Amino acid sequence: MSALSITSTLTLRNGIKMPRFGLGVYEMSGQQCTKSVTWALEQGYRLIDSAEWYENEEESGAAIRKWVDSTPGASRSSIFYVSKLKSNRGYQATKSSIQESLDKCGLGYIDLYLIHSPHSGKQKRLESWKAMEEAVDSGVIRSIGVSNYGTKHIRELLDACRIKPCINQVDLHPFMTRTDIVKLCRDNDIHLMAWGPLVRGEKFDHPVIVSMSKKYGKSPAQILLRWGLQHDFITIPKSVSKDRIIQNSQVFDINIEPEDMKVMDALDEYFVTDWDPTKAD
Ligand SMILES: NC(=O)c1ccc[n+]([C@@H]2O[C@H](COP(=O)([O-])OP(=O)(O)OC[C@H]3O[C@@H](n4cnc5c(N)ncnc54)[C@H](OP(=O)(O)O)[C@@H]3O)[C@@H](O)[C@H]2O)c1
Repeated sequence: MSALSITSTLTLRNGIKMPRFGLGVYEMSGQQCTKSVTWALEQGYRLIDSAEWYENEEESGAAIRKWVDSTPGASRSSIFYVSKLKSNRGYQATKSSIQESLDKCGLGYIDLYLIHSPHSGKQKRLESWKAMEEAVDSGVIRSIGVSNYGTKHIRELLDACRIKPCINQVDLHPFMTRTDIVKLCRDNDIHLMAWGPLVRGEKFDHPVIVSMSKKYGKSPAQILLRWGLQHDFITIPKSVSKDRIIQNSQVFDINIEPEDMKVMDALDEYFVTDWDPTKAD
């Protein structure tokens, strides 16, 4: 039996503990987001992954605050809230985006703030980072990281930064294993956060996933999530359904055997579900 649980955390390079499992809120309308975040928190999720781009930072923050206020023993610090910078438009624009995200969520601080993608070129990427470092200095952001960074972008940032990134959030699932990015991140103490961990439902009927589902008595979705967790990827499935939010969290009572993990690793086919900025200039 695995020792992992829904509240398991890992420790980032700055000493801050981050939950290993959470809810992604991409493509949720405002009302869907309020409900989904509330259901997730009730179910024990402690990490919420939002973004400027998703246009639901207000609803995410409001649902968290309401849940904290109405739940005995709960506190703001028991929730890990993530947001992301939509685009790299320079130092001043990044400062403005950070302030807007803070105002919208109303949570007082953001636990983790990511550059959403490397698009825009080196100078603008590094300007975004500088503004984010200053937000850490002033205490309004606790940890900073990147998303969709390829190896070139990670090396560029490590060469230039004052505060090193804690996280790279990339699409990671058995059909997209990104082993080069994963290795470089691990070598540099950057944790991986897996977006699209359910492959957006596009591989639920793959014969290997179906056979693992039967073997372990779990749904294809649960098998995919468990694979990511066992690779130590912070895993953030999205769902607007209460039943599926609950189902996705019931992945802590199985352990995929090492040989089955290898079979799943071998499914890699560079399968892109959404976008792939990892090779941007
Ligand atoms: N950094 C980035 O560039 C980036 C890009 C994409 C996503 N993300 C983050 O990663 C999160 C997750 O990724 P994602 O939204 O792309 O996709 P995903 O989590 O792989 O898949 C979500 C899809 O699976 C369905 N689903 C959820 N649970 C299910 C279950 N148990 N059984 C069957 N279907 C299920 C959902 O439908 P229902 O909602 O109807 O249940 C939805 O259509 C996002 O919400 C976002 O926070 C980040």
